[in-house]
Amino acid sequence: MDFGIKVGTPEKQRGACVVVGIFESRKLTDSAKILDKVTQGYLKNILVLGDMDGKANTALLLHNVPDTLFKRVLLIGLGKEQEFKEKTFLSAVNTALSALQKTAVTDATLFLSDFPIKERTNQWKVSQIIIAAASSNYRFDQLKSKPENSPHSLRKLVMCIDSRTELAVCEEAVQQSLAVAHGMNLAKDLGNLAPNICTPTYLAKQAKDLAKTHKLKASILEEKDMEKLGMGSLLAVARGSEQPAKLIVLEYQGSGKKESPIVLVGKGVTFDTGGISLKPAAEMDEMKFDMSGAGSVLGTLLAIVEMKLPINVVGIIPATENMPSGKATKPGDVVTSMSGQTIEILNTDAEGRLILCDALTYAERYNPKVVIDIATLTGACVIALGNFTTGLISNDDKLAQELLAAGEQAVDRAWQLPLWDEYQDLLKSNFADIANIGGRAAGTITAACFLSRFTKKYRWAHLDIAGTAWKSGKEKGSTGRPVPLLTQFLITQAKTSS
Ligand code: BES
Ligand code: MN
Ligand code: ZN
Repeated sequence: MDFGIKVGTPEKQRGACVVVGIFESRKLTDSAKILDKVTQGYLKNILVLGDMDGKANTALLLHNVPDTLFKRVLLIGLGKEQEFKEKTFLSAVNTALSALQKTAVTDATLFLSDFPIKERTNQWKVSQIIIAAASSNYRFDQLKSKPENSPHSLRKLVMCIDSRTELAVCEEAVQQSLAVAHGMNLAKDLGNLAPNICTPTYLAKQAKDLAKTHKLKASILEEKDMEKLGMGSLLAVARGSEQPAKLIVLEYQGSGKKESPIVLVGKGVTFDTGGISLKPAAEMDEMKFDMSGAGSVLGTLLAIVEMKLPINVVGIIPATENMPSGKATKPGDVVTSMSGQTIEILNTDAEGRLILCDALTYAERYNPKVVIDIATLTGACVIALGNFTTGLISNDDKLAQELLAAGEQAVDRAWQLPLWDEYQDLLKSNFADIANIGGRAAGTITAACFLSRFTKKYRWAHLDIAGTAWKSGKEKGSTGRPVPLLTQFLITQAKTSS
């Protein structure tokens, strides 16, 4: 789909459809007023009939409106003007998109001034509209024998602004949000793929392909390489699987300087059965999404290479299955991590931290500016924050604030949990340096405490995306989160470091 920015008002444009907002009750927005004027009160007359009073999430499509150059006018209810905020804006955008998709409209025009939101620029609105459009166009039908017919005819969306001074920043927002959408689509595709297809080997191949088509360097470490490095913890998780584990490393040199990189580490468990600590059968299929951290790292790298962001970024993905077998790691096994610390594996289902800890130690060799790991790590995070909010834990408050701000800006929000020393005691083991579980209480925090033992040498943040990476139920599928948060964070870093 194409997106364009224009400076102008509705009376001078032409096209297949113009979208205009109506506040409750029957209050015209600026562009609606102009259109009403040139059509000699046509819109007001319609509103008087009572078919559209401006309630949020309503739409009314009009044909053959006289005296305009648009073939159709789509009225979108925006709710009460005083209560109009981000959430109503986003749902109005989705209402408009789904109304357009039910028609044969190929191009539509809308006016950003119709949506006055405090503290949100037109640039921000452009980004949100593009990401919403990309999400509503997203289909995953590559595993169906026949593609499902989705007769989407909408090809072009023109967003109009009042003043020429904003043209350049809005056009930049188009480019950047298209890149974010591409990154999200990649993360979604990888997440949605069946786990017999999206194996560690498949992820490694995707990384190599990404490196080939873009300006990236890919290296894949095999199990024998990991053995040499002493990654006993990562290999302990891989032991029960027939699929070989891979450690995928992607390097992007965008800054043109020998600058320390930002390292992104993504959990790549392509299927999590729990191992010998086997998970219950219900919804176990959803554990194919347990590589969503990995998917978000690949998606974010795609987004930033498309943007040619002037920054250095390294992506590290420990990829493995977690399976039970005669060779699998058992509860009580003690392994030695790459850092030298020994780990008592009391629950083989707490495998994410076991693969991340070795990847986090490996990250040290890049002398990183910061390291961010992204992982579907704990069910406890879903209980604490639900499906809207990513869990954030960091050993550096400034970094935490920057990530929170990026999430706020991208509407891909996170919320910080504490990393206080008191929680560390819960990981004591009688037999090794550290246990891999800390009991039921504060499960998200103790998981992060475990990781913090391996991140002492740099500024680090952990994003627990267990609740946000995918949707369950009728809409089951990957969300592509937190690609928007991560990309926004990197955009800001690139601006402030150059
Ligand atoms: N991948 C899961 C976390 C998960 C569970 C994400 C459900 C989303 C939905 C992780 O590997 C896991 O199994 N964690 C355990 C940890 C426990 C054994 C300490 C959990 O959360 O139950
Ligand atoms: Mn698990
Ligand atoms: Zn897992």
